Amino acid sequence: REVRRVMHWVEYAYDVTFNVTEGLIGGCAYEADGMPLSDGTLALARASDAILMGAVGGPQWDGKVDYTKRPEAGLLRLRKELDLFANLRPAMCFDALADASSLKRDLVAGLDILFVRELAGGVYFGEPRGIENLPGGGRVGINTQRYTDAEIIRIAHVAFDMARKRGGKVHSAEKSNVMESGLLWREEVTKLHAADYADVALDHILADNCAMQLVKNPKQFDVILTDNLFGDLLSDAAAMLTGSLGMLPSASLGNGGPGLYEPVHGSAPDIAGQNLANPIAAILSFAMALRYSLDM
Ligand code: IPM
Ligand code: MG
Repeated sequence: REVRRVMHWVEYAYDVTFNVTEGLIGGCAYEADGMPLSDGTLALARASDAILMGAVGGPQWDGKVDYTKRPEAGLLRLRKELDLFANLRPAMCFDALADASSLKRDLVAGLDILFVRELAGGVYFGEPRGIENLPGGGRVGINTQRYTDAEIIRIAHVAFDMARKRGGKVHSAEKSNVMESGLLWREEVTKLHAADYADVALDHILADNCAMQLVKNPKQFDVILTDNLFGDLLSDAAAMLTGSLGMLPSASLGNGGPGLYEPVHGSAPDIAGQNLANPIAAILSFAMALRYSLDM
């Protein structure tokens, strides 16, 4: 609702018109259609230049709805179907909020980090997955972390290209000390860097150390390149550096199709309906849509 107000202002101030259609995703879609993303909504999304998403999830569906029909599954389907592999999550600290951060002002004032999170692969989508009964009794939960060289290279390109337009520095975060997928990640990023991006500074960092460095000395970072799961965790941590989880927008880009723009935060069910939610991440997501999808 707040984004629509800003949109109207942009239409008025810049003499442009946005053609907006609305579709349901998440819990409301589940209630209406029995699934968190209908084919109709997906088709609408595909036919758009940019997709603005609110947030999904709520306690009324947690553990009560089949796993493949939970609100989050709708969002994951949207990302996967549109092959939105590049998730850009800028974490900037506005000066007025520097005192709201859980870290000291001088650590966060002027902070400007860009997360480049791989969004269409990794453990979120890897097969096999599931919960199975063990022959001797008991159960096992299975998820698979899986990355091809091509998936790593295409997201690394995005990180290096972004770094060139910013501070010229990329930290690539993985767990190559314990995971083969992390080792491949490190090798491919190293190769691509040597071949095409020698002008950009590259540091490899273990993802756990990256978490520590984010709260110890966050301003050392410019672009952080990481996989789907680590990017989910690290970007939430970075959100708190900026003073509020309500401040972080994101853009998810594929190969020339529509971009998806959504706040990093969730649906905040604890304050639903009270007009208390911070709309800034949603508004900044619209700003990213103007920049990356609508060329404005
Ligand atoms: C995010 C969210 C999602 C994710 C959830 C809602 C599926 O936490 O965009 O960071 O885990 O990717
Ligand atoms: Mg998250």
